[in-house]
Amino acid sequence: MFILGLESTCDETSASVVSNENLILSNVIASQIDLHNLYGGVIPELACRRHSETILPVTQKALCEANVSLEAIDAIAVAQGPGLIGALLVGIQFAKGLAYRLQKPLVGINHIEAHLYASIINHPKEDIFPAIGVVVSGAHTAIVFIKKIGAYSLVGSTVDDAMGEAFDKVSKILGLCYPGGPIIEKLAAKGDPDMYPFKAGTVKNHPYHFSYSGLKTAVFYTLQKMTSQSQAPFILTEIQKQNIAASFQKAAFCDLIQKIKKACIEFSPKAVLIGGGVAQNKQLQKQLQGEIENLPLFFPSQEMSSDNAAMIAALAFHKPFLSFEQGIETLFPYTRDPNLTFV
Ligand code: KG4
Ligand code: ZN
Repeated sequence: MFILGLESTCDETSASVVSNENLILSNVIASQIDLHNLYGGVIPELACRRHSETILPVTQKALCEANVSLEAIDAIAVAQGPGLIGALLVGIQFAKGLAYRLQKPLVGINHIEAHLYASIINHPKEDIFPAIGVVVSGAHTAIVFIKKIGAYSLVGSTVDDAMGEAFDKVSKILGLCYPGGPIIEKLAAKGDPDMYPFKAGTVKNHPYHFSYSGLKTAVFYTLQKMTSQSQAPFILTEIQKQNIAASFQKAAFCDLIQKIKKACIEFSPKAVLIGGGVAQNKQLQKQLQGEIENLPLFFPSQEMSSDNAAMIAALAFHKPFLSFEQGIETLFPYTRDPNLTFV
């Protein structure tokens, strides 16, 4: 069985052909970093225009690399949300058009669920659930309790910035590029994490919720004081940037890890699954491995941690498909996950 996956939730247009659940025949990703780098973050209107230009060539390339013809595709899986509404519409309308033309089944996939699934694509699923899932991306920061594939409850999520977003904003404050995560990680590796006593926010009565907006603002005010400049980007030495990056990263990761540990005590999972762009961070991986010793930790491969269509297509093997008529009638994008409720 060949599933064509499509992903267009944010700033990557991606198409992938997957067969037999985990045999990834192609995973073509067209990144829009060049476009959004100019502004230091994703501009939704520009993102959806770029998706509409690239989705067809990206899909053609994915079919070509997989050596699978369009007619041989058995079903189409598309990221349905959460994401940017205009960006989602491009992928979903394209998927509906293809399903209609091919008269093939269609399924809408939850992007967050796919990020978590990405970490276990190549693993036997028997001894993983119940699990704690942690999504740390540019748009989401959440801890979920996963009873089994498809059965999730929200343990905590961010009330303001997502973790990746905070990395991106701190990078912008330092006058550096988008996406900020890899740049901050590199700088942090050479800096002193104890130089500045930054702390992530806490949310009253919600011990699992996250708040990174104040952390980013603390970085801003610290730099204002240090440089006597009123506006970012601040003019700093390389060592100052390294120390800021290391102290910010330490504060963000300590907060996340402390909440994951707490959830592991409360929910007694058999494993912890990490997904999303920030999961690529080697320091985060090292700290988690050091602090959660008694449970297996699953991280996605480098290619699978950022937005990609292979995770969408692979997860679709576990989902019921709709006929193309039903799919065309009922698949609509969502900006927030409609199924996630609190434990
Ligand atoms: O999962 P993703 O590709 O897109 C969303 O669904 O949002 O995540 C992108 C985010 C960006 O904010 C980026 O700065 C962050 O992941 N990121 C990192 C690293 N690599 C990417 N954050 C920290 N350390 C990294 N090495
Ligand atoms: Zn994502």
